Amino acid sequence: MKDTKLETRAAELTPVKTVYLRDYRVPDFLFDQVELNFDLGEEETIVKSRIHVRRNPEAQTGAAAPLVLQGEELALEAVAINQQQLSPADYQVTDDSLTLFKVPEHFELQIQVRIKPQENKALSGLYRSGEHFCTQCESQGFRRITYFLDRPDVLSSFTTTITASEARYPILLSNGNPVASGKLAGGRHWVRWEDPFKKPGYLFALVAGDFDLLEDQFKTCSGRTVALRIYVEKGYREQSHHAMQAVKKAMTWDEENYGREYDLDIYMLVGMSDFNMGAMENKGLNIFNTKTLLASPETATDDDFIYVESVIAHEYFHNWTGNRITCRDWFQLSIKEGLTIFRDQSFTEDTTAKTVARIRDVNALRVRQFPEDAGPLAHSVRPESYERIDNFYTSTVYNKGAEVARMLRTILGAQQFRQAMDLYFKRYDGQAVTIEEFVKVMEDVSQLDLTQFRLWYSQAGTPLLTVNEAYDAHQKTYTLTFEQTCPPSPGQPTKKPMFIPVKMGLLNPSGQELPLEWEGSPVSTPVKEAVLHIQKPKQEVVFKNLDVHPIPSLLRGFSAPIKMNFDYSDPALATLFQSDTDQFNRWEAGQKLSERCLLRLITAYQQKQPLHLSDEISTLWESALRQGPEDKFLLSQMLSLPSERYLAELLPVIDVDAIHAAREFMALELAKKLNSLWLQTYQALHDPQAPYRYTVEEIGQRQLKNLSLYYLMLLPEQVDLGLAQFTAALTQNMTDTIGALRCLNNLDHPARQLALDQFYTTWQQQPLIVDKWLALQASSKRASTLSEVKKLTRHPAFDLKNPNKVYSLIGSFAQQNMHRFHAPQGEGYVFLRECVLQLDQFNPIVAARMVKPLVEWRRYEAKRQYLMREQLELILQHPKLSQDVQELVTKSLQEE
Ligand code: BES
Ligand code: ZN
Repeated sequence: MKDTKLETRAAELTPVKTVYLRDYRVPDFLFDQVELNFDLGEEETIVKSRIHVRRNPEAQTGAAAPLVLQGEELALEAVAINQQQLSPADYQVTDDSLTLFKVPEHFELQIQVRIKPQENKALSGLYRSGEHFCTQCESQGFRRITYFLDRPDVLSSFTTTITASEARYPILLSNGNPVASGKLAGGRHWVRWEDPFKKPGYLFALVAGDFDLLEDQFKTCSGRTVALRIYVEKGYREQSHHAMQAVKKAMTWDEENYGREYDLDIYMLVGMSDFNMGAMENKGLNIFNTKTLLASPETATDDDFIYVESVIAHEYFHNWTGNRITCRDWFQLSIKEGLTIFRDQSFTEDTTAKTVARIRDVNALRVRQFPEDAGPLAHSVRPESYERIDNFYTSTVYNKGAEVARMLRTILGAQQFRQAMDLYFKRYDGQAVTIEEFVKVMEDVSQLDLTQFRLWYSQAGTPLLTVNEAYDAHQKTYTLTFEQTCPPSPGQPTKKPMFIPVKMGLLNPSGQELPLEWEGSPVSTPVKEAVLHIQKPKQEVVFKNLDVHPIPSLLRGFSAPIKMNFDYSDPALATLFQSDTDQFNRWEAGQKLSERCLLRLITAYQQKQPLHLSDEISTLWESALRQGPEDKFLLSQMLSLPSERYLAELLPVIDVDAIHAAREFMALELAKKLNSLWLQTYQALHDPQAPYRYTVEEIGQRQLKNLSLYYLMLLPEQVDLGLAQFTAALTQNMTDTIGALRCLNNLDHPARQLALDQFYTTWQQQPLIVDKWLALQASSKRASTLSEVKKLTRHPAFDLKNPNKVYSLIGSFAQQNMHRFHAPQGEGYVFLRECVLQLDQFNPIVAARMVKPLVEWRRYEAKRQYLMREQLELILQHPKLSQDVQELVTKSLQEE
């Protein structure tokens, strides 16, 4: 159906320029050295730059080509070439550029601009966060500081001088090492920083203000001592010890696992309250959102502790995968983000609980990346075009990109993968590279032909692998037939078959592993686990010498980011759940069983039939609770139901009410059926006196305990249990506080409000805890949640200008609370549209992130489709819309 109204509307919008990968050209000019001079003031800041420019010998344009610099929101005061001031006839300034018409081969360029960080609410470029100055330059924020060749393949050495009031800004930081400083008249002082490593503008950082400092040091593998400094807002020093431990852990891990050593004498981490993202890897001066840096037992949950550690590791690992080797252009973003996510995931697997870490990453991929890959914004890991690059920091580039790196390790084996990484660092250190160059080192080391594998970078969509089995008792053979397809995605109507590594094993009916022998096996002696290379649209593998009909354990550890269908019997899944040697597949088998029950319940609900749950799952769970894995962290994952968002992915049309009803019903049934066991488990693990310790063992205990509490509190008689835990933990242990409050939060019981009020009164001075308070209320299952969320937008603790507040309140509601966000009359959609439009007036990056829940409108039934679409069209009709939001909304409304 053509929509003419929409087409006319699109024609009125500001024209946006699409950038294509195929148009990449090397830069016309190179900036060898950059000297920056900041004069920070209370109303405005003067930025002077002095740049050694030379024409790129490899430029594809002629010697007369002008120098075109990017710049936004800048007031140009002066331009000079080789100390000669230019007159306005020599250049042209537009909203987003400065063009110098005639320039020599080599020259010194001087520019002076004025900017207003105090008015910068987009939090991109130089801005204020409370009493501090701070920067965020990735991807295109540097052009909001001064005119520049703001592209990742222009690498320069930076010298930065910062001048400011000494009383207000005693600490002045930038990348590299401090080399000089001094005092000036009028209470001002200055510090000069020199970064010996060449870098693109997006890795530049500046921080100024008064901070608490936590110091430590690290001795690297070659014996150098690195000063570690964590700067946090006044009063937060005690909450930064965990971060310091994490830094040292990450540094050690990268030395041991990748042979990578830190390269500067100082490594600085700064925490900021106003920050669009989680954190940023600026060379030598990483900047963190306070929520990814601060953690102490009474203020942060176990999950926060783990998250902080993983973000710190991530930004630290970027020093090699991102900074020393950066991307040639933004289409190559996954070369730093996908690879670095893979590295931080491996770190978390190694330093916490391997399988639990993997389960969480796979869950995240399934509920975030799979829908993206099936929706109107689907794109490949290396996109081919974009309007706004900010919109391409996606789950596909990050999480699918990480899976692709992981598959390379699976295919090459850990040893060859490491050799290939060593070669990558050796060959490309100091350069801006492409994904192709990364794959090439993998190929060079392994001698494998990875031509087909490269499709993972260029082809969008989640492949579907259908597996069938045939056992021949007479021949003792077992044949697995693999058939792969991949659905069409925007701009890619047909797909080629992919190279899918399927890690697998075979079990006999009593759960023991069988030796694998098959035709074409690369090894002659039987093994217990193999990685099959599935490369054809249809492919058979015949296993030999099998006396019994085996149970296949397929896609172990989720060895490829695909959907897989195999028609397991329920008993086969039960066997895998109880005995597979692959812990991930044990969990997966349990989820499959629960999924089956839930899908039956969903159908029953839709057909208005009574809901009923057989004893199968509770029997299995009971035995797992009595004699399951020692690892309680893993056990708690095995006893959790698939999320509503996961279930949504399985339905052709998302039915939020049926999903919610089915899942709530099943949880309640499991609560009743295993009631005494939950109580026993809870009591065995709960010790209100025990001090918090951050160990994997104790995290597992708290997880299982709080899971037991969750089931117990689904039953009305257990309110006191939760209230008691809440009260005892409130000022001591945030994991247990939230564990209890999360349950109370769903109740229509006076205890809920009492606890929420007490929580707020106790912690209202701690912004990150107030964020939790907002997020909890936004994710409540209660019917009044939307009206409470609206009320909270007017609460003094809420602030639309602060991204953390927005993510906690509006994000939790729209992204996590499916049932309430998709209220049947569309009230949730109206609310989100209003928020997005307000946000978009000053912070397009955050607005574009918030609009996401509406873009997958096609997945819902006709009425909700209509209601969601209506809000999207209203957004497009707004007279002042950012390109960021416009790109997403327009693409989501485009005809398929
Ligand atoms: N380089 C990014 C930060 C970034 C993201 C800058 C988007 C500009 C646009 C950083 O390394 C990053 O990926 N941060 C993540 C956290 C990480 C642990 C996945 C973030 O900010 O969410
Ligand atoms: Zn990153």
